[in-house]
Amino acid sequence: MGGSSHESGAPIVTVHAIPRHRTPDSAVSRDAIALEARVGARNYASMPVVLGHGRGAWVWDVDGRAYLDMMSAYSAVSHGHHHPRLVAALQRQLEAVAVVSRAYHSDRLGPFLAELCDLSGLDAALPMNTGAEAVETAIKAARRHAHDRRGIADGTAQIIVAAGNFHGRTTTIVGFSSDPDYRRGFGPFAPGFVTVPFGDAEAVRAAIGPNTAAVLVEPIQGEAGIVVPPEGYLAALRRICDETGVLLILDEVQSGLGRTGRMFAFQHEGITPDGLVVGKALGGGLLPVSAFVATRDLMDVFDPGSHGSTFGGNPLAAAVGHEALRVLVEEGLVERSRELGAVLIDALSALRHPAIRAVRGRGLWVGVDLDPAIAPAREVCLAMLRMGVLSKETHATVIRFAPPFVVTRDEIAHGVATFREALACVAGSGPGQSESSSIRSA
Ligand SMILES: Cc1ncc(COP(=O)(O)O)c(C=O)c1O
Repeated sequence: MGGSSHESGAPIVTVHAIPRHRTPDSAVSRDAIALEARVGARNYASMPVVLGHGRGAWVWDVDGRAYLDMMSAYSAVSHGHHHPRLVAALQRQLEAVAVVSRAYHSDRLGPFLAELCDLSGLDAALPMNTGAEAVETAIKAARRHAHDRRGIADGTAQIIVAAGNFHGRTTTIVGFSSDPDYRRGFGPFAPGFVTVPFGDAEAVRAAIGPNTAAVLVEPIQGEAGIVVPPEGYLAALRRICDETGVLLILDEVQSGLGRTGRMFAFQHEGITPDGLVVGKALGGGLLPVSAFVATRDLMDVFDPGSHGSTFGGNPLAAAVGHEALRVLVEEGLVERSRELGAVLIDALSALRHPAIRAVRGRGLWVGVDLDPAIAPAREVCLAMLRMGVLSKETHATVIRFAPPFVVTRDEIAHGVATFREALACVAGSGPGQSESSSIRSA
């Protein structure tokens, strides 16, 4: 294995002759999995691999085996693992101060929030840590806006959400999930949410009533299986919200920051929402950093004491978040996601296999919908793992391909060839072509 760097300066690792079948796991690896199972909550069905190291689009397990990362930690690692500029920003800030709380100002917060506002076209940002917290912030803002600005009685505001949504795991948020697994046994849930089909703007119009505060949707539904709505959906929502005085709030925790080939997915349709939720890649793959970004009018519903977070916007997070945004812009990573996304979707669409029902996505964010009777998605992901490529199923039938933006064309070709081979193995039609077993230096 050797390292080089692409035009952005981020490391690219070239891997030759990846073994097609993993050597047996070491005791270190087996013990790590057993320890987690014994002392941890069992709320994840993690893939059986213990990762110990990462650079660029590659990670290594504790036994030294390399994997091409086509998952990017659910888009949290869009910049690639251990991006040198982000690590340097983190280290610089560590030397100064890491956490001061919002009881005081810091010299890092303003520039970070200003960058977020510049890039989104919005006026003000409120930093949090995880995506779910930023969604909760958006919900509080929307409800108070309805009350303070439109005179909707406290406790009666409604928010329209989409079926199949995924906005995080807090009790309020899972309360309006349409997935029974996310809800079972966790009630009672907060009222005030109305669910309509995703992608149907007229259903939103029909659901709007006098107490509707906001429409809250993902521009592309990630966890639902990378579901892309019809062209013009967001623009239609914008029009409907403008006509009715309802807020449009977009959850771009996963779709934002270049994942779809634009800085924000709403930019594909030339609109600006009233409120925007960002997270994941905002932390540059190093820290949990999220934010609610909004018009000044909407953000001004918050006054001292009405919302906050001990860690939200801490100097370390702000320094890394700011650099994460600068790196996306200065290294052309958003354009890279657009260009290489087209390469990825073309390569996956060109595969001919009876198990493939659909290929959909935008930018470096593609889902392949499989017929589980022929090839269960989890089985295919496990086969890819054995062959040195990381992916992850969502909802049993969809495999997501969302590599870091520093991935190369050769690596994409390698990932797709490995997927084809894994599919062939799982579907029982024997091993695929063997040229994917090695990739050459770009
Ligand atoms: C669209 C969307 N919103 C919110 C979240 C929740 O983010 P977090 O896990 O950081 O709370 C996610 C996580 O996958 C997401 O995809």
